Amino acid sequence: MAQVRTATLLFLFAGTSTLISVMIITGSIQKLIQHTSRTVKDESREEALENIDFWRNVELEESDLPSNINETAAQTQVEYRKISVMETDIFYREAQPPEGVRSSGEAVVLLHGEGFSSKNWEELKTIGALAAMGHRVLAVDLPGHGNSSQGDPGDKADFLQELLTKLEVTKPVLVSPSSSGSYSIPFVIKYPQALGGFVPIAPVSTEKLKANAPELMIPTFITYGELDLDLGHRSREVLFARIPTSQIVPLPDANHAAYLDQPVLFHTLLYNFIQNIHARKA
Ligand SMILES: *[C@@H]1O[C@H](CO)[C@@H](O)[C@H](O)[C@H]1NC(C)=O
Ligand SMILES: *[C@@H]1O[C@H](CO)[C@@H](O)[C@H](O)[C@H]1NC(C)=O
Repeated sequence: MAQVRTATLLFLFAGTSTLISVMIITGSIQKLIQHTSRTVKDESREEALENIDFWRNVELEESDLPSNINETAAQTQVEYRKISVMETDIFYREAQPPEGVRSSGEAVVLLHGEGFSSKNWEELKTIGALAAMGHRVLAVDLPGHGNSSQGDPGDKADFLQELLTKLEVTKPVLVSPSSSGSYSIPFVIKYPQALGGFVPIAPVSTEKLKANAPELMIPTFITYGELDLDLGHRSREVLFARIPTSQIVPLPDANHAAYLDQPVLFHTLLYNFIQNIHARKA
């Protein structure tokens, strides 16, 4: 009787140890496989987390505009040009850093809202200020606006992609107010790698940023006029949720076309934002 019990115990013991050994070995192999793929995944994950942390918290009012910005901006030469994009004649204003200003190598593309055009960016001295900061500036009249022809832009994401290609800009900072969101939002969804930075100002079409789509990892500062209770408030929520590398900076006492009411603050935010984009490339 005792022998049988001992044999059973021995058998159970042997069986259990074998099972445990097998489990340990399989576990180790699994862990090894996981570890190998994880070191690769971890690195990009870590980088993504670091990017999110950086852009969510970076201080965009840290530096004031250079004290000579207005004088340098006044020296900027704005050129008027036309190109054909998808059989539409597109008018745009272009400026380079004026003499004596070191080029940053960054490019800024300015779109405009309904009832506006590239002319507003010239009058507001945004083109001059950005060029004075060392950037190449391109302010575009969208089809059917300003001095561009009506045309049929077709797929607006592709239209913007072709426009940027023809303007020979890579990874620009795209400033997109209000109705120009009908171009910029489909564009960032379709070409999430194309921009160096994104500045949506109460854009339309944010409903296209679906909750189940992959998150956009574009350095972004979301701005809007604090008095713009409709589109401004609505768009900021969606943008903030869908772009983890973003932060919201409202412009106080400003309406829907917020930059018109707070040009100095708007230029200061752009200044810090682009400086950080540039610094993180180095
Ligand atoms: C530049 O000009 C604007 C008015 O156009 C003024 O409010 C601002 O203080 C000036 N900035 C500097 C740095 O002088
Ligand atoms: C833009 O078009 C208007 C007429 O619609 C014209 O007066 C103006 O000179 C044009 N501007 C440029 C820069 O071509």
